[in-house]
Amino acid sequence: MSDHITRRKLMGAASAGLVAARVARPAATDKPAMLGGRPIRTAPFPSWPVIAENEERAWMDVLHKGKWNRLDGDYANQFEQTWAATLGAKHCLATANGTSALFISLNALGIGPGDEVIVPPYTFVATVNAVLLQHALPVFVDTDPETSQIDARKIEAAITPRTRCILPVHLGGSPADLDAILAIGRNHNLPVLEDACQAHLAEWRHRKVSTLGALGCFSFQASKNLNSGEGGAILTNDTDLYHQCQSFHNNGRGDTGSGFGYVRNGANLRMTEFQAALLLEQLKRVEEQSRTREQNAAHLTKQLAEIPGLRPARMYDGATRNAYHLYMFRYDKAHFANLPRAQFLKAMRAEGIPCSGGYTPLNKEPFLKHTFDSRAYRVIYPSKQLAEWFERNQCPANDRLCEEAVWFTQTMMLGPREDMDQIVEAARKIQRQAAALAQA
Ligand SMILES: Cc1ncc(COP(=O)(O)O)c(C=O)c1O
Repeated sequence: MSDHITRRKLMGAASAGLVAARVARPAATDKPAMLGGRPIRTAPFPSWPVIAENEERAWMDVLHKGKWNRLDGDYANQFEQTWAATLGAKHCLATANGTSALFISLNALGIGPGDEVIVPPYTFVATVNAVLLQHALPVFVDTDPETSQIDARKIEAAITPRTRCILPVHLGGSPADLDAILAIGRNHNLPVLEDACQAHLAEWRHRKVSTLGALGCFSFQASKNLNSGEGGAILTNDTDLYHQCQSFHNNGRGDTGSGFGYVRNGANLRMTEFQAALLLEQLKRVEEQSRTREQNAAHLTKQLAEIPGLRPARMYDGATRNAYHLYMFRYDKAHFANLPRAQFLKAMRAEGIPCSGGYTPLNKEPFLKHTFDSRAYRVIYPSKQLAEWFERNQCPANDRLCEEAVWFTQTMMLGPREDMDQIVEAARKIQRQAAALAQA
């Protein structure tokens, strides 16, 4: 009997402890760094890019060979072969950057004035700029807030007789819903151009993204998971499209590469040998780095999802690998004493956790109106069509996502698992102290 009472008392004490933990009276050490407390973390996260002896050797090799242009050297060829083989694509064309990869691809697909291209509003501006460079009209399809990707369920409603291409982005390295998007493409006879600029090694049903649509594009800009400062690539299994891209990116030359023979119009959008040599060396680490990001992200997601008000971006069922160029989640201030997101971000940064609120709605960018007011657009498009564009391009779910999103960069996913624990610790601390922070 006494044993029974003791156990009951113990259980009572334990549950009282639980309640206390839930209401979480802040300890002195719990003071937010933004209010003068000790930050959770003072050490920097892993730096980027990773530079080692192999990069230095390759760089100096290009330098001393003196063949800095790809038409003279072999590094760009080697990179193209390696990247195509890594992704399982028939062809790879190295380009000056990701924007030019998209621009070249749209050109090869014959997209031009009067055409509509379906794009997400939740992407880097280059996706849309590539469409505008062709004097085509970007048509925005709202975002699926659960995944931060284009909402494939809303694509068909945006298709008109003028639609010529679907341009999904695998944002943050998480694949867009390719089953649905490719099926819509097939049903409407529309090519799918994958913007995989943030999605190195990401997979859809165990196939690398960029190889499932007509063409796929990468960026190797400095922040990217595979990096040469600037750089890009186009992947395709279509030999005809490859030749179109190849020629266009080399001033319209034919297969011979150099000389003064032209088979079409074009531009110089070639990658340099320096870029290609760096990429070949950086490539040696990309698989291992990718695995580290995945493991860290899985650990982080499990813990962040337990914090009321934080919702990590979901992956579609077909997504078998996420590149985690960005780690994305949504913040609901209702669970943080109404602390605005801007203050949450500030408080996290003060705790030593760099983060950002991500993109603003691209479909509402004033520069679009300026572009449509330009002489070229006014010549191409009837004023009624341009006037209606703003009505057609409302994306309410995306507007909301842009107000709630929180991002970490890929480099933060490259450290030890304890780094993830500190991120979570900072978020929990801010939640406990949200009322104090909201009043500050
Ligand atoms: C989704 C997306 N598309 C296109 C680009 C353009 O790539 P780049 O900066 O190499 O021109 C980027 C890169 O910043 C990107 O993130």
